[in-house]
Order: sequence, then C-alpha cells, then structure tokens
Amino acid sequence: THLPDMQGKRIVITAGPTQEAIDPVRYMSNKSSGKMGYAIASAAAKAGADVVLISGPVSLQTPVNVTRVDVVSAQDMHKAALVEANTADIFIACAAVADYRPESVAQNKIKKTSDELTLTFVKNPDILKDVAALPTAPFTVGFAAESQNVEEYARKKLAAKKLNMIAANDITAEGLGFNSDNNALHVFWPEGDKQLPAASKRELAAALIGLIATHYNENN
Ligand code: PMT
Repeated sequence: THLPDMQGKRIVITAGPTQEAIDPVRYMSNKSSGKMGYAIASAAAKAGADVVLISGPVSLQTPVNVTRVDVVSAQDMHKAALVEANTADIFIACAAVADYRPESVAQNKIKKTSDELTLTFVKNPDILKDVAALPTAPFTVGFAAESQNVEEYARKKLAAKKLNMIAANDITAEGLGFNSDNNALHVFWPEGDKQLPAASKRELAAALIGLIATHYNENN
C-alpha cells in the first residue's frame, strides 16, 4: 500500500492491554496482543512521522524509528498519553484499556481462606476522551471493539468523545481482532465512512494511516 508523506507530523499511538493489579502477584487484563497498534506505529514511522508508541505489556519488538514508552496500568497509560498528546498532531488510541481496576491493591497475596472472593472495581479514566477534550487537542482517532450493532455504537463513541475518526472492529469475527494477525475495520468520521475488508494488520495499518492523512489534511 502507498503511504502518505507524514514528515514533520508527531503521532502518538496507544497499544496493547493494560494490567490492573489485584495483589502483588495477580492482575486483571485482556487478550490484546498489541499487534494492531504496533502495525500502525510501524506504518506511521515508514510514512516519515515522529512516532511515540505508548505500550501496555506485550511481547513484541519495538518497530524501527519508533519511540516506545512502556506502561502497565490504565492510570499509567493515562498519565503518559496526556503528556505526549500535548505536543501531538495526531493521537490514535488502539489500546484495549481496562475500563475498571480493583478499588484497592491487596498489600499481601490474597489467601485461599474463603469459598468466595468478592472484589470491588472502580472506573478507570477514559484516556481517549481526555485527550480529545484537551484545549489544543490533536486530530484524534479512536478504536471501537464491538460485538454487536457495530456502526451504531461506533458512531455514538465518535460523537460522545468528540473524535475526528473511529475505527470499529467486530470482535466476534472468526480469526480477526484480538490477538490474531488479521483484522477488518469499518472506519467512521462525521461525514462519511469506509470499510477496510479483512487483511493483515500490516496492510490495514497502512490503509488507516492513508485515511487519517487525507482527513487530517482536510481539517488542518
Ligand atoms: O492488540 P491486538 O491483539 O492486535 O488487537 C487489536 C484490538 C482489537 C485490541 C484493537 O483493534 C482495538 O479494537 N482496540 C480498542 C479496544 C477497546 O478497548 O475498545 P473500546 O471500545 O473498549 O474503547 C473505545 C476506545 O476508547 C478505544 O480507542 C480505546 O483505546 C479507548 N479507551 C477506552 C477506555 C479507556 N479507559 N481509555 C481509552 O482510551
């Protein structure tokens, strides 16, 4: 795929899962591998952009010419993203951020003493929403992982979080989405949409960077 020229543009990307500590040896997380976000970082760097990749815990190599910032929890990712987004032209939120975290982290390993264990979770900050609400917000692109009513929910997120663009993936599709090498995206912006049919995450990342460049240039 032909990549646009993004020299001089600063692009910040979040990728991977977050881990939310329960006790010193346990956490809650999800199945994001980071592959989609890393492919986007790689495509953006190949297009000539200055790329910062804020990454949850994954086992992937840092793409060439990409600055990587490692984080663990949603709160860490939130902090790093707000710092980096201040000087970004484009922000792409591909991370699968935990919506909730345990209310408190047990100081010691939780013992197997009772038949039931109840944990209370509290809401994590919404990184994407807070970046889009910055006074000098970058061109902001969200992802939406949906299992039903993909278009309706994606358009709702686009409007509610005041995003410039959102890339929806249907996570129920066999062999696509979380932790696979392939994906399919349906990208929405206020005045239109485009389907990017099933392909490798590398190809989709290049197509997405192309779409972002077109709409970024229209807005700026
Ligand atoms: O990592 P892979 O294995 O390659 O899989 C890729 C992927 C399926 C994880 C990716 O394509 C994807 O869909 N990422 C977003 C997953 C997600 O958490 O979606 P969501 O609908 O819950 O969140 C909507 C948007 O808000 C996302 O851009 C998310 O990064 C962002 N968000 C969500 C919660 C939160 N607290 N902060 C956020 O910034």
